[in-house]
Amino acid sequence: MSERPIHFYFRGTVQRIEGVSPTRTLLQYLREDVHVTGTKEGCAEGDCGACTVVLGEKVGDALQLKAVNACIQFLPTLDGKALFTVEDLTRLGERTAQLHPVQQALLDTHASQCGFCTPGFAMSLFALYENNPACPDRASICHALDGNLCRCTGYRPQVDALPAAYARPRPHLDRQAVLAALDHLASLPSLEYRAHGQRFTAPRTLAELATARLAHPEARLLAGATDVGLWVTKQLWQLDALIYLGAVAELKIITRDPAGGLVIGAGASLTDAFAALSAAEPAWTELAWRFASTPVRNAGTLGGNVANGSPIGDSMPGLIALGSHIVLQQGERLRRLPLEDFYLAYQKTALEAGEFLRALEIPPTPPGRVFRTWKVSKRSDQDISAVCGAFALQLADGVIHSARIAFGGMAGTPLRARATEAFLTGRTWSRLSLEEAARILANEFTPLDDLRASAAYRRRVAAGLLMRLWLEQDGSAPARLADLEALT
Ligand SMILES: Cc1cc2nc3c(=O)[nH]c(=O)nc-3n(C[C@H](O)[C@H](O)[C@H](O)COP(=O)(O)OP(=O)(O)OC[C@H]3O[C@@H](n4cnc5c(N)ncnc54)[C@H](O)[C@@H]3O)c2cc1C
Ligand code: FES
Ligand code: FES
Repeated sequence: MSERPIHFYFRGTVQRIEGVSPTRTLLQYLREDVHVTGTKEGCAEGDCGACTVVLGEKVGDALQLKAVNACIQFLPTLDGKALFTVEDLTRLGERTAQLHPVQQALLDTHASQCGFCTPGFAMSLFALYENNPACPDRASICHALDGNLCRCTGYRPQVDALPAAYARPRPHLDRQAVLAALDHLASLPSLEYRAHGQRFTAPRTLAELATARLAHPEARLLAGATDVGLWVTKQLWQLDALIYLGAVAELKIITRDPAGGLVIGAGASLTDAFAALSAAEPAWTELAWRFASTPVRNAGTLGGNVANGSPIGDSMPGLIALGSHIVLQQGERLRRLPLEDFYLAYQKTALEAGEFLRALEIPPTPPGRVFRTWKVSKRSDQDISAVCGAFALQLADGVIHSARIAFGGMAGTPLRARATEAFLTGRTWSRLSLEEAARILANEFTPLDDLRASAAYRRRVAAGLLMRLWLEQDGSAPARLADLEALT
C-alpha cells in the first residue's frame, strides 16, 4: 500500500488532510484545527454526547447515516466517509427556514437551557430524522438519545422535539451528491497514512489485513475505537502503529444459516450485531439497548468487545452461554476456539502475534432452550455493569438436560459457573432446584469489592438473576423499569 493523505467529504467538498497525528481525534480537528466549534467537548470519553456528529457511508446503493462521538474517533478513520456536524443542519435548514426543523423544534419545545448539550441532541435527532421518513415511536426516540446527557431540561422536551420537527417542512439532503463523493473516495487506493512518526494502515480486504497483521504484529488493531480512543484521550498513551479494521467490508458481514446459526464478522458494528442476535434470540433485545449508547454501538464492534476481553464486557456472558465459537486468523491459517477458552487471565487472551479475530459463530437455537442475559448496573443506559449474567438451559419433559451459565463482573475474565451448571444438569426444572442452585452460585465466585459494587452484592445479584430465570418462566417475576418502557 502506498502512502496518501486522509480524504473525507465535509461541507460540500472533499477534505484532504496530511501532517496531522493519526491519533488526533475528530473533535480536536473540528474545534482546534478548522475552528468549526458548534460540536462541543464535555467528557472526551464517549459518555456525554456533547460531541455527537453524524457519519455517512454507502451501504449497498444507499447512504447510511450514523451518530458517533467525535471525541474518540481518530481522524484517519474518517477516510472514505462523509461527515455532518451541527453547522450542516443550519446550512440545510437555510433552504426552507432559518433553522433545520430539528433545531427549530428543540427551540420550540424548550429543550435547551444552558445549550451545551444541544448540538449533540440535534445531531442524534438529525440522524434519526434522516433515516426515517415517518416519525419513529417514543421508545425509539428515547433509545436514539441514550448517549446524550442534559443536566438542565429533564429529557422530555428533547423527546418531544422530534415529532414537532416532523410537523415542519422537510429540507432536502442531497444524497446523490454525497453518494457521488463517496464513490470518488472509494476509487482511491487503501489508506496508508504516516505523520508525527506514527503509522495508520487501513486495509480493505481480509487478505490485505492478514498480510499487514503478519508484517506488523506490534501494531495495535483498531476497530470502532470506543475502547482504544480512551487510551489516548484519557490515559494519554502514544500509539505508534495502528491497523484499522473499519475499511475491511468482509469483516462486517453477518450471515444466518438455514438452521438459524449466526456468523458475525468481527468488524460488524454493535448496532448491526445486536440486531442480528436479537432477531435470533429476543432475550438479547434488552441487553442491546442497555449496552453503552447509540453512538457507541454505531462505532464499536462486537469483535472489539470480545477481543478487548474486559471482565465487565457485556456481550461475552450471553455469547458464552449460547456456546459460541470464535474464528481467529493468522496469515492464511484459521483456528476455532470456544469463546470461553479465549480468556486466559485478567487482560490476557489466547490471541497470538500476527493473529486477529475474524468472526463469531453462534449456534442455532435448539427447541426447548431457555435463554436470558441481564445486565445489572446503577443506570439503565450508558453504564458499566456491576454484574452481567447469562443463562442457557436445555429443558425437556420437565428436566434440565444441560445448563450453560456465564458471568461478567464476577472474576478477572468472563467465566462460566461450572459448579452451578453441573448441579443443575439432570435436575427437575423446579423452584426447589433453582433455589439450591442459587445457593451454590452465590458461593461459586470470588468477585472484587470496587466502586461499582461490593463482592457480597455481586454474589447476591448473581444468585438473584438465576432465581429471576425461574420467576419469569413461572410468570411471577416482579416488574422492572425496563418492563415499564412500553407504557412511556
Ligand atoms: C461511553 C462508553 C460506554 C461503554 N459501554 C459499554 C457497555 O455498556 N458494555 C460493554 O461491554 N462495553 C462498553 N464500552 C466499551 C466498548 O464500547 C466495547 O468494548 C466495544 O465493543 C469495543 O469495540 P471497538 O470496535 O470500539 O474496539 P476498539 O476500541 O477498536 O478495540 C478494543 C480492543 O480490541 C482489539 N480488537 C478490536 N478488534 C479486533 C479484532 N478483530 N481482532 C483482534 N483484536 C481486536 C483492539 O486491538 C483493542 O485492544 C463502552 C465504551 C464507551 C466509550
Ligand atoms: S465529549 Fe463527551 S461524548 Fe464526546
Ligand atoms: S441544556 Fe444544559 S445540559 Fe442540556
